[in-house]
Amino acid sequence: MSTTLSAHSLAAITNFFYQHSGIRLQPTKRQLVVSRLTREAARLKCATLDDYVTRILAAPQSDEARHVIDLLTTNETYFFRESEHFKQLAHLLRHDPGRQMLRVWSAAASSGEEAYSIAMTLARHAGARPWEVIGTDLSTRVVAQARQGLYVAERCSRIEQADLKRWCLRGEGAYRGQVLMNRELRAKVRFEVGNLLHPMPELGLFDVIFLRNVLIYFEGEAKSQLIANVIQRLKPGAYLYTGHAESLRGTPHPGLQQVAPSIYRAVEDESRNRHTKLG
Ligand SMILES: C[S@@+](CC[C@H](N)C(=O)[O-])C[C@H]1O[C@@H](n2cnc3c(N)ncnc32)[C@H](O)[C@@H]1O
Repeated sequence: MSTTLSAHSLAAITNFFYQHSGIRLQPTKRQLVVSRLTREAARLKCATLDDYVTRILAAPQSDEARHVIDLLTTNETYFFRESEHFKQLAHLLRHDPGRQMLRVWSAAASSGEEAYSIAMTLARHAGARPWEVIGTDLSTRVVAQARQGLYVAERCSRIEQADLKRWCLRGEGAYRGQVLMNRELRAKVRFEVGNLLHPMPELGLFDVIFLRNVLIYFEGEAKSQLIANVIQRLKPGAYLYTGHAESLRGTPHPGLQQVAPSIYRAVEDESRNRHTKLG
């Protein structure tokens, strides 16, 4: 099979991806597109990558087209990534006992490591208060992985021993070398497919939202829309964490006050009240 991809096909497939994800892949990402689509094109016995692109664009709602969106997203994540946020969450839980039902959203959850890390932190520090964690992601593939909660053991090295013992099962036999989040933990964490470019009122409101390592893929109008959608899901006084390398600077974020690097808090003012009423 020929792996050449014409400039026309590259523009067409990256445009298709942009329409569905809001993420603009620059022409410099040609090699990434080629390497991620080649195996799929071969599987469907397409003579060229251009043929595969034509096929996808002819059926943009098909399972194969959804699969392409999955392939082109970048899902890198790991347990307790950017650990400061988990320390801050623990601090919040210990010093803000006024919060009752604690709801935390891992927006752009990828394969679930972030959501399970949040759950372990809540289990340890929430005391008697009920809590729940919801993880959402654009990619159906990673959401399926997250629901399964099965990870390669080496990727669990940042989980503390006590949490490993309490919440994780070491695989045996065919599952040797893997770690499964136990049933009790999985029951506390729900995963849904969701596009942050669309408002998600059905999720309800949250005390803390992790919106990490996803803003970097967005700019301009799409980034503003995404942030507006997320802000609508914050309870008054709730917290929003962004990735350490990310910033809301230059993008409107009405009703949010920065309280630490990459941590924002929803304050109650007129514009924010308008937002919460919409939800
Ligand atoms: C690099 S991962 C970040 C995972 C995790 N938040 C972390 O910090 O480790 C970025 C995730 O954002 C998801 N994503 C990209 N665009 C999205 C969108 N429009 N709506 C929801 N999720 C999106 C991707 O599928 C990917 O799993």
